[in-house]
Amino acid sequence: MKNTVITIQQAKERGEKITMLTAYDYSMAKLIDQAGVNMILVGDSLGMVMLGYEDTLSVTMEDMIHHTRAVARGVKDTMVVADMPFMSYQTSVYDAVCNAGRLMKEGRANAVKLEGGREFAEHIRAITAASVPVVAHLGLTPQSLNAFGGFKVQGKTEEAARKLLEDARAVEAAGAVAAVLECVPAKLAKVVTEQLHIPTIGIGAGAGCDGQVLVYQDMLAMFGDFKPKFVKQFGEIGTMMKEAFQRYIEEVKSGVFPAEEHTFKIDDEIIEKLY
Ligand code: KIV
Repeated sequence: MKNTVITIQQAKERGEKITMLTAYDYSMAKLIDQAGVNMILVGDSLGMVMLGYEDTLSVTMEDMIHHTRAVARGVKDTMVVADMPFMSYQTSVYDAVCNAGRLMKEGRANAVKLEGGREFAEHIRAITAASVPVVAHLGLTPQSLNAFGGFKVQGKTEEAARKLLEDARAVEAAGAVAAVLECVPAKLAKVVTEQLHIPTIGIGAGAGCDGQVLVYQDMLAMFGDFKPKFVKQFGEIGTMMKEAFQRYIEEVKSGVFPAEEHTFKIDDEIIEKLY
């Protein structure tokens, strides 16, 4: 069954956990879809895990459309959410609607995600009015890395916790269909989840959220630059890949690969005529 804004809302109401993973290309999207994950996030984390930047700030609309389109071609039932990259919506409500529209029209996303709370309520309202569902992103919002002074857990003081709760209420009131909570203390994320009608999707926000999201390279141990505390590695795929690459080198060098079954045939008579 196709996952939509309605089915994820129903999942919250039934108390069923929602699953989300990132993907950035066709093959991975297909595997994740076949596994039955509810939502794929084409995250601007692609700047780091796919393009090798040190943060998400250099990711462009063209990067996001290119990867979102590839992911959308790979899915059947999974709902595709595309990140709005840095400065594609912060500049004006008009830019926000145009760029959200491009992610849906050109990228074939089912929804967009943007970082920020009440200060972007007007943007969320306008994008939603244009029939593009919006997932909000609160807590640690990596596009604000320089404003935060680093990657830090958010909402730890009473003032910060109240602000996060008010931001969550503001994005819900503006029409957001879900809210990602990143690097928020688990007990605070639970309070937010209980007070919102829309689903919360946590990353580093504990088990009290309505769903969870992870970057696939992190959960498959394919990205070794750093490992955040909230990551659980569900497979040693990075190690398996390296071992496979090494076996390939050995077999090519020793002549074991390609073997008879990997080659195409031609009549010996034709070959003899070439001498
Ligand atoms: O870009 C991304 O992958 C994200 C997740 C970490 C939530 O925003």
